[in-house]
This record gives sequence, C-alpha cells and structure tokens, in this order.
Amino acid sequence: MDARGVETLRFTDGVLELVDQRLLPQTLRYVACRSAGEVAAAIRDMVVRGAPAIGCAAAFGVAVDALRLANEDATSFAAKLETAFAALHASRPTAVNLFWALDRMRAVWHEAPADDPRETARRLAAEADRVFREDLEVNRAIGRNGEALIADGARVMTHCNAGALATAGHGTALGVVRSARDAGKRLSVIANETRPYLQGARLTAWEMVQEAIPVTLITDNMAGHMMRTGRVDVVIVGADRIAANGDTANKIGTYALAVLAARHGLPFYVAAPLSTIDRAIADGSGIPIEERDPSEVTGFRDLRWAPEGVAVANPAFDVTPAELVTAIITEKGVARPPLGDAISRLFGA
Ligand code: MRU
Repeated sequence: MDARGVETLRFTDGVLELVDQRLLPQTLRYVACRSAGEVAAAIRDMVVRGAPAIGCAAAFGVAVDALRLANEDATSFAAKLETAFAALHASRPTAVNLFWALDRMRAVWHEAPADDPRETARRLAAEADRVFREDLEVNRAIGRNGEALIADGARVMTHCNAGALATAGHGTALGVVRSARDAGKRLSVIANETRPYLQGARLTAWEMVQEAIPVTLITDNMAGHMMRTGRVDVVIVGADRIAANGDTANKIGTYALAVLAARHGLPFYVAAPLSTIDRAIADGSGIPIEERDPSEVTGFRDLRWAPEGVAVANPAFDVTPAELVTAIITEKGVARPPLGDAISRLFGA
C-alpha cells in the first residue's frame, strides 16, 4: 500500500494476489496464485520483486499450499509442504528476505502438532500474515529513522525500486522519502532508470507520479553528470542482502553510484530492514549474485536491439563495500561506521 492505495500483495481465502509488476506502469493487473508453485514462478518471473516483497510472497506461498493441502493425511501434507518450501527456496538467490521468511515459516511448522494439518495450516497462514504486517510497520519505522537525515528541499537520487511495490507497503528508500514528505519537507527525487529491467523508470517513477512527489527520471549513465553539476544532495537505495560487515548487495549499478557519491562528497544511505542483514555471511564476497536471462539485455519485451550471437552478461546485483556506505537506516536505528560493530549492536550482540 501507499502508491495511492495499491496493494502489492493481498491474501484472501487462501489465494495470493500480486500486482503484476512486469506490466506497470501501462497496466495495473493482479495475478492470482493458488499454489506455492505458482508463487515461486511469480517470484522467478518478476511478477513480484524487491527483497521484502519477495519475503512476504514466499511466506504467503507456504500458507497457500498449507491451506490447500490441509485435508490430506499428515504424511502426504508434510511431503507436499516440503516440496513447496523447495520450490520457493529455489525461486531467486540474492534477496535474503526470501530465506529469512521461509525460515520463520519452517519454525512455525515444526512447532505445530505433526498430526494435525489443519491446525498447522491455520498457524502458517497466521504467521504469513504477521510477516506481511510486520514489514509494513518496519518500513514506517525505517521511514521515521531516515527522514531525520533528510534536509528540507533535498534532491534525493535513488536506484531501482525500493518503494511500496518492493515491500508490504511504504517502502524502504522511498519510505524515507514518503516519511520526509509527511513530515512537511519539500523534496524531490531523481529516479535512475535502472537498466536492464527498468524498475526505476517503470516503478519508482510511477509510485512518485501517483503521489505527486516531484520526480525526475534519468538514464543510469547520467548519474555522474547530475552529481558533478550539483543536482544531487543525497543518495538513498535499498538492499537485497547486507553482509555482517555492512557490504551491501543491491540492484546492479548501485556500486557505481556509491563510488560517484564518494567522489562528490555526497551521503550514500542504504535503507533496509534487519531481515535483509545476513549475519551468517562475513562480507560481500559471500553473497550469491543472480545472473539473469540474456534477453533482458539484448532487448525489452518484444523489441530486440542487439545482434543475434552476441555474448551477454546480466548480473542482477552488485556489492557496494561497506566503506562507501555512509549509514544503514533500519527500523531499529541508524547504523554508522564501523558498520560491522553497529550491525552487531542492532541485533543486541
Ligand atoms: O531484481 P529486483 O527488482 O527484485 O531488485 C530489487 C532491488 O534491488 C531493491 O533495491 C531491493 O530489493 C530493495 S527493495 C526494498
């Protein structure tokens, strides 16, 4: 919710409905998922994307199958639910929120009575709902913590879409923008187009236009020029996975922005929930980077512009070293360098 009442995900009567983000901004349409396999396909095919939204979708995916299979005998229920977990687990590799949400669901499953599929399904549906509702609250807290860092009149550059569409609502990077707007600050957004999948041009620009927040769309290769000519005050991005030392994986192109921000003396903030921090990974070198289909680079939708036979690289994410991150804005507070220590403190360790 927030892009004028659009719900990114909604769960009713055992069916998960997702805004089809592949079609935006031209068409606003929901896709109905009636099995975990359909939810996994929707994650893989980018119907739903953005780390927290992927986590919510995965949790609901488990719930969809648990409710669908609740009348089966306990052995068959358990075997089929295991298959559901496996399909969701394999849907996308980088955003750790997916695995975080599945771990939460698995813990609830294992606490439930093994001989009572209906009770298990009821508990799993309730947990998925909690994952979703908590994400909304977490985003609002990130917004509150982040808006204090944003000056009145700030020109905020962002990359990809870390907005309502990427979360249960409000957004992380765009949540900070929304909260600053709600606090009465006049600010404007520079949305990087975000090649090759155009999340910035299609989704961030759409969210901002919906709410009449001033937004200027640029192609990714204009970012350096905009900074050098004094048209950017601050960069705020989301994250897909943050290692224990603060190294941050986010949409491809983020690293280049962080280097540019450092060169131009601009603050570079990462806005992300604690569920995006993977403390099991010491630094960014351990973060799996998804390689996506070459067709995303050789063209878009039905249009192809590159010659047949060309070799293509399509890493969907890159890693920004912690030393280039000014601070990580979380629901529990703002982590400042040294980020490894600050992250440990956020987790109460
Ligand atoms: O490939 P996507 O569109 O799922 O990538 C999304 C991003 O990189 C976002 O910046 C990130 O998930 C944070 S969303 C709050």
